Amino acid sequence: MNASAERADTIAINRRMTHFDGHSQVWLFGYGSLIYKADFPHIERRPASIRGWARRFWQGSHDHRGTPTAPGRVVTLIAEADATCVGMAYLVSPETFASLDVREKNGYLRLATELTLDDGRHANGLVYIATPANAAFLGAASEREIALHISRSHGPSGANRDYLLHLADALRRLGADDPHVFAIERELLRL
Ligand code: SIN
Repeated sequence: MNASAERADTIAINRRMTHFDGHSQVWLFGYGSLIYKADFPHIERRPASIRGWARRFWQGSHDHRGTPTAPGRVVTLIAEADATCVGMAYLVSPETFASLDVREKNGYLRLATELTLDDGRHANGLVYIATPANAAFLGAASEREIALHISRSHGPSGANRDYLLHLADALRRLGADDPHVFAIERELLRL
């Protein structure tokens, strides 16, 4: 790991998080790869949304879709009062967070959020968010620049392009309208 990848490593911080201590089951809201790659044990999985957050390809990926010297671009959530983010909720046992913290270690922190499940229920849960303060944060760029960046990036989990295309596909299947993700997909397919 180079210095910035090391600074972005959030495993130790997340292990100290005490939200939902003592609970036997916790809802997790996924809005990126956690929508379509559910390779962790879960008790229930259902479409859900959270309010006040917008999905953006503004986070660098040193460990999955890029490398420490050539980070890829993946999604994080940016606070936006009127935004609603559609994703997938998983009911998991607290032990599952040990492996999720490793998967999401490149700058993502577990934060508490209220979720609305597709059956109308409301629940409190957790979401992994990479805030602008983390060392791997890349920030805004035009949708064309983001598509170009994604088209050139690869990492241990595969091509950055596949992350974008799988996410766009999963969002369509959820019936989610996400102009940012779909515009980047269009730009990528035009290259
Ligand atoms: C998420 O999917 O909820 C977090 C970002 C990612 O792993 O792609």
